[in-house]
Amino acid sequence: MAKLKVYVTRRIPEAGLKKLQGLFDVKVHEGQMPPTREELLANVKGVDGLLCLLTDKIDGEVMDAAGKQLKVVSNYAVGFNNIDVKAASERGILVTNTPGVLTETTADLAWALLMAIARRIVEADKYLRAGKWKTWEPQLLLGTDIHGKTLGVIGMGRIGTAVARRAKGFNMKILATSPESDRKNAEEVGAELVPLERLLRESDFITVHVPLMPETTKMMGEKQFAMMKPTAYLINDARGEIVDEKALAKALKEKRIAGAALDVYEKEPIGADNPLIGLDNVVLVPHIGSASRETRDKMADMAAENLITALQGKPVPNPVNPEVLKK
Ligand code: NAP
Ligand code: GLV
Ligand code: GLV
Repeated sequence: MAKLKVYVTRRIPEAGLKKLQGLFDVKVHEGQMPPTREELLANVKGVDGLLCLLTDKIDGEVMDAAGKQLKVVSNYAVGFNNIDVKAASERGILVTNTPGVLTETTADLAWALLMAIARRIVEADKYLRAGKWKTWEPQLLLGTDIHGKTLGVIGMGRIGTAVARRAKGFNMKILATSPESDRKNAEEVGAELVPLERLLRESDFITVHVPLMPETTKMMGEKQFAMMKPTAYLINDARGEIVDEKALAKALKEKRIAGAALDVYEKEPIGADNPLIGLDNVVLVPHIGSASRETRDKMADMAAENLITALQGKPVPNPVNPEVLKK
């Protein structure tokens, strides 16, 4: 029997790729950049499985270009807003993601961002390298304390809870805004579930961990920044579109909030034309939330396992639309 065909839209760690190559006829898109839309539409033709990245927009057109034999779209990420899940379900295509294995790594990055902006680490590093350091000074590069402050977690799911757990070591008070179903998570870390407005008014650090969905798109905008303390900071390593970036840049420029530290943006990558680039009270990193060697290996393994089990008709570990399996 001819081997099933799989298209992988970028070279992922060997851990996952090897498993696939042992079983299927695998084509990998090489190079630093994602396939163009044309390349994607051409290369999915005839495949049974697609392993894609968050940089690939997988909609009904791509699924139709693949053909009726397409069984599974395995995302190399936990967030799956790049995939039209409804279109997949309508076509009986299973969508999978990589939850859990990147939780702690992404929580670590949220804390790296929080600490970097609070203690002005990036600014201080630049200052030293520029040869500006003359002596110890009472007023040099003063930041803000982290310990004892109030952390506001928006979205008390896997990553939000892992971020809050770390805050306990800093003796922080923790507020969280999340559906009632997350009460157990909140209780585990001693967080109080509160409405968003109270979280915004009382938190010193606000960290965003909701998935990108219609309900969370631009849920942080001008109105929300106006409710924050002028001394408060925003951290976002969830998705850029959850924050109204223009309104954020304005609030930061006018010092209506103290600062922001971001891993994700409305349109990635951002360039010199992005208003955030010119601001001092921000820390900006290029979507590296899950970027540790260990975690990327685990994600590759998980994405491969999801795809393999789906194509072999075995129980699939991480289905996003499990209703497809029941049909
Ligand atoms: P998760 O476990 O599903 O957590 C998300 C939480 O947000 C859930 O508990 C969800 O509640 C809650 N929620 C949904 N809508 C909400 C709303 N309107 N207000 C408040 N809370 C709401 O997902 P996760 O694994 O923690 O990942 C979260 C997101 O982080 C992903 O979707 C992804 O976009 C992002 N991420 C980014 C990186 C990076 O590299 N920067 C890495 C990993 C993940 P319900 O479950 O009850 O709906
Ligand atoms: C990364 O952003 C992910 O969603 O895994
Ligand atoms: C600072 O280095 C101090 O000793 O207070």
